[in-house]
Amino acid sequence: MSALTRSTHWQALKAHQKTLVPTSLRELFAADPKRFDKFSLEACGILLDYSKNRIDSETMTLLAALARKVDVEGWREKMFAGDKINFTENRAVLHTALRNRSSRPVMFDGHDVMPEIRRVLNKMREFTESVRSGHWKGHTGKPITDIVNIGIGGSDLGPAMACLALAPYGKPDLHAHFVSNIDGTQLAETLKRLDPATTLFIVASKTFTTQETMTNAASAREWLLRSAHDETAVARHFVAVSTNTAAVAQFGIDTTHMFEFWDWVGGRYSLWSAIGLPIAVFIGMDHFEALLTGAFEMDEHFRKAPLENNMPVIMALIGMWHANFWNAHSHAVLPYDQSLARFPAYLQQLDMESNGKRVDRSGKTVDYNTGPVIWGEPGTNGQHAFYQLIHQGTRLVSADFLAPVESHNPIGEHHAILLSNFFAQTEALMKGKTAEEARVELEAAGMKGAALKQLLPHKVFPGNSPTNSILFQKLDPRTLGALIALYEHKVFVQGMIWNLNSFDQWGVELGKQLAQKILPELAGKTVVNTHDTSTNGLINYFKQRKL
Ligand code: F6P
Repeated sequence: MSALTRSTHWQALKAHQKTLVPTSLRELFAADPKRFDKFSLEACGILLDYSKNRIDSETMTLLAALARKVDVEGWREKMFAGDKINFTENRAVLHTALRNRSSRPVMFDGHDVMPEIRRVLNKMREFTESVRSGHWKGHTGKPITDIVNIGIGGSDLGPAMACLALAPYGKPDLHAHFVSNIDGTQLAETLKRLDPATTLFIVASKTFTTQETMTNAASAREWLLRSAHDETAVARHFVAVSTNTAAVAQFGIDTTHMFEFWDWVGGRYSLWSAIGLPIAVFIGMDHFEALLTGAFEMDEHFRKAPLENNMPVIMALIGMWHANFWNAHSHAVLPYDQSLARFPAYLQQLDMESNGKRVDRSGKTVDYNTGPVIWGEPGTNGQHAFYQLIHQGTRLVSADFLAPVESHNPIGEHHAILLSNFFAQTEALMKGKTAEEARVELEAAGMKGAALKQLLPHKVFPGNSPTNSILFQKLDPRTLGALIALYEHKVFVQGMIWNLNSFDQWGVELGKQLAQKILPELAGKTVVNTHDTSTNGLINYFKQRKL
C-alpha cells in the first residue's frame, strides 16, 4: 500500500464514505435547508455551488485534513516561490509570475523575473497596437486582416479557446485562425480563405522543434512566397513566440519579431506568456492584461484563503473524493455558454497531461485513481447527445456546469431558456426520479396494467449524481482569467494529493519516437517487416494503396 492510502486520513475518508452510501443527495438536501449556504462560496466574481455533491460537513473536514497532511500549502508556496518542483525536467513552475500584477518581485535562480516579463509585455503591447491600428503592413503595403497562429498543444489550445471565449471583445475586422494539426487539411482549408498580402502568421512553439508546428510553418511560408516571390516578405508576415532564439533565427524569422518566454513556463500553462499573443492581437492588450488580472486575483485567493474556503482547493478535494472514493473515472465539463465551446478541450490538456500519471514522485506505481478522463460539450447540445448516459447509465460521472448570468448576445428568451436547462439538469441529476414518481406520472398520462409495468423501469432516474455549478456575471477577460486559474490550481492541488509530478508529460514521447522511425519506412513500395504483425500489416496496406 502507498503511504497515501495507508494514511489514517485516507482510511478515515474510506470509512466515512461507507456511512454516506445509504443517504442520497435528495435526502441530504431535505435534511438541511442550509445546504446551499453551507456548501457554496464566491471568489473573484465566481460563484461555486458544490452542494450537489456526495458530501456532508464531515467529508469536507476530512478532505481538508488530508490536504493539510500532504502539505498542499507547502507545495503551493514552493510553486509560487519558483522551486524546481518539476524535478523530472529540472524546471520551476512559475506561470503565476506571468500574471503577477503586484509590485512584488518573483525570484528565480537568484534574480527577479518580473522586469523581463514586463519587457515582453511591453513589446507585445507595441506590436499588437501596430497590427491593430494598421500601422504594421504586409509586403504589399496592406494592413493585416487575418492572423494565423501555428502551434499545437499548449501553444494552441489556450489561445484558440480564449479567442473564441472573448470574441465579443475582438476587433471586428481582424480574424484569428488556428492551425495545429499536421493534417494538411487544416492548413489548406484555413489558407483557402485568406489573402497572403494581409495575413500574419504567429509561429508559436516553446521548443521550436515540434514536428507539426515546424511542418505547418514551412508550408505556410511556401504559400506566402508563392505569391510574394520575395524572401524579404517573410519578415512582414511571420513572427515567432518561443524560448528557442537560435531555432527561430534558423527558420528565417527575424528575431526582433520574436516574443520570448522562459523555460519555467510549462506548455499547458503558457497562455499567460507571449503564447497569448494571438489573444492580445485579437482583443487588444488592455483586455489581455485584464485576463492576467483575473488570473492574478485567483492566485491571491488560492494563496491566502484557508483551505476550507479556498475555491480551487474545494474543487480539487471534491474531484478526488469522487475519483478515489466513489470510483468516478470521468469528469464532464459542461459550459452553458457557446463561447466556452473549446473550454473542455483546453481542460483536457491541462488536466490529463498534468495528472494522467501512474507513478508517484518516487517512481512507485500508485494504488489509487489519479486524473480522470475530462470531456464535455456546451449545453444544451450535450443534453441531446450524451446526458442519457449520465442520467441513466451504469457509470458515475461527475460534472461541472458553468454559465454566465448575462449573455453577450441577449436575443429574446434564449438566455433564460439556456439557464433554465442548466438549473434543471443539475436538479435532475441530483434528485432523479423514483419509481413511485414515475408511476404517478404514467398513471396521470392514462397508462396502466402491463404497459405501465413494462415502461416503468425505463422511466426511473437514480439521481444522486455529483455536480458543481459555477456561475459568473459575464464572460469578460477578467472572469475568464480567474476561471482558467481556478482550474489550474484545482489540477495542481489534486496532483499534490496524488503525489504526482503534475508538470512533466513523458507520456507523449513514445508515440513521437515511433513515428520518427515509421516516417521513412512509408516511402517507396518496399514491404516493411520491422514491427509487430499488426503495425506491419497497416503500414503495408497503406503503402500498397498510396499514390
Ligand atoms: O506533446 C506535448 C507537448 O510537449 C505539450 O506539452 C506542448 O504544449 C506541446 O507539445 C507543444 O510544444 P511546443 O510549444 O514546444 O511546440
